[in-house]
Amino acid sequence: MLPDRRHGRHADRLHGRTVRIVRPRDSEALLDEDAFEREEFLPYWAQLWPSAVALAGAVWARAPREARTLELGCGLGLPSIAAAMAGGRVLATDWSADAVAFTAANAARNGVALSTAVCSWTEPGPFVDRAPWDLVLAADVLYEQRNVQPLLELLPRLVGGAGEVWVADPGRAAAAAFLAGASAVWEVRSAADALLPGGAVHRLRRRRPTASRQGPRPAASPR
Ligand SMILES: C[S@@+](CC[C@H](N)C(=O)[O-])C[C@H]1O[C@@H](n2cnc3c(N)ncnc32)[C@H](O)[C@@H]1O
Repeated sequence: MLPDRRHGRHADRLHGRTVRIVRPRDSEALLDEDAFEREEFLPYWAQLWPSAVALAGAVWARAPREARTLELGCGLGLPSIAAAMAGGRVLATDWSADAVAFTAANAARNGVALSTAVCSWTEPGPFVDRAPWDLVLAADVLYEQRNVQPLLELLPRLVGGAGEVWVADPGRAAAAAFLAGASAVWEVRSAADALLPGGAVHRLRRRRPTASRQGPRPAASPR
């Protein structure tokens, strides 16, 4: 990762390919007090978080080719760009229109085709209408406890039996609550990443229904 603060750019190497990500120079300057009062709408999207870099690396290395892919909370869009470079058909989404605009610009800058949409997890109609997705991506979206329940409720509506959800997280407390809640529905495999000491890239797959524990049915009685 090569942050270039002067120009507000990042360059990241995905197994030999360099991806250039443009971000606002000063994310503090983006603070909108009205929006903050309304819904704590902080400009977290304006930074490239280590989770995004780790998730992009995992996607580039292991994402199923041509996967219909949805990214939630895309921020500057690096995992979506990696998924599109890996051959996926990608919809990158965030509730911040500015984030989505930066993602679209970053995709174009890297010569990558993807779709974008402004959409919140709490009004997820546009995600759900286009389900099932093969792959749902989310990097560092569990930074607030209030994000846990909406995501636990939403994810099963997005992914069918063969699909996966990949969540990269640096080890936040809300992520532990999310993983505890998710275990009823999802099998979770977590891969460590040097960029996420204390965290991981978690891969969620729906649990298979367990065979009934009831014994064999009694034989029908003769007539
Ligand atoms: C910590 S940032 C992570 C950004 C990016 N994924 C990364 O890792 O660099 C969290 C992201 O989630 C988005 N977000 C937060 N709440 C959301 C919601 N309810 N619906 C959609 N996006 C949301 C924010 O706008 C922001 O882009």
